[in-house]
Amino acid sequence: MLEHQLIVVGIGPGSPDYILPEALRTIEAATLLIGGARALQTYAKPHQQQVKVDADIAGLLQTIRQELAVREVTVMVSGDPGYYSLLETFRRELPQARIRVIPGISSFQLAFARIGLPWQTARLLSAHGRKPEPAALVREPGVALSFLTDARQHPAVIAGWLQEQGWPQTARVWLCKNLSYPDETVVAMTLAEALNISGFESCVMVVME
Ligand SMILES: C[S@@+](CC[C@H](N)C(=O)[O-])C[C@H]1O[C@@H](n2cnc3c(N)ncnc32)[C@H](O)[C@@H]1O
Repeated sequence: MLEHQLIVVGIGPGSPDYILPEALRTIEAATLLIGGARALQTYAKPHQQQVKVDADIAGLLQTIRQELAVREVTVMVSGDPGYYSLLETFRRELPQARIRVIPGISSFQLAFARIGLPWQTARLLSAHGRKPEPAALVREPGVALSFLTDARQHPAVIAGWLQEQGWPQTARVWLCKNLSYPDETVVAMTLAEALNISGFESCVMVVME
């Protein structure tokens, strides 16, 4: 068992207006703070040692292993740690670590709040770095689909998958980008319009008949 705790903190969709007080206190108390460039810029203080998360995950895991022998390590992840974050990798690669998770508001939650839809029956899917199974894209009455998107699996590509699955051109689509930030944008359109949309690479996409 590694000596100290690895604390995985959800920072919510981005703006400090949407982070839990416990998450903020934990981040402030950290001596070693790890996160993406934007998270570090927002929350890190000059006296804290900072490590930026980049593509070198093996290097990051090595740093964390070394540091856990001597002190606690705090890692900031976007949204909620329980939905497609580094938590999965940490649990797989650092089974000896004592991991503590502090929840955050997922980008899904804020997207559904912005468009005023309940999400208890929605099918939550990630197209961030992956393609969902075709079975997950099947139409079901009253079930909204929602996707995390990225530069490759962006809304126009996802609209194409849905068209192939027989979703009607008139299905409603909402695209929510930069949620919680001053340049937040939420737009509504039809599936036919989404087939040609650009400029919403990293966003939450919600689709409903
Ligand atoms: C690696 S996933 C992390 C998801 C995160 N754990 C959560 O609960 O929201 C990154 C994706 O989340 C979505 N995302 C994160 N922050 C966002 C924001 N402020 N506005 C819109 N989408 C966001 C985008 O689809 C982005 O590609």
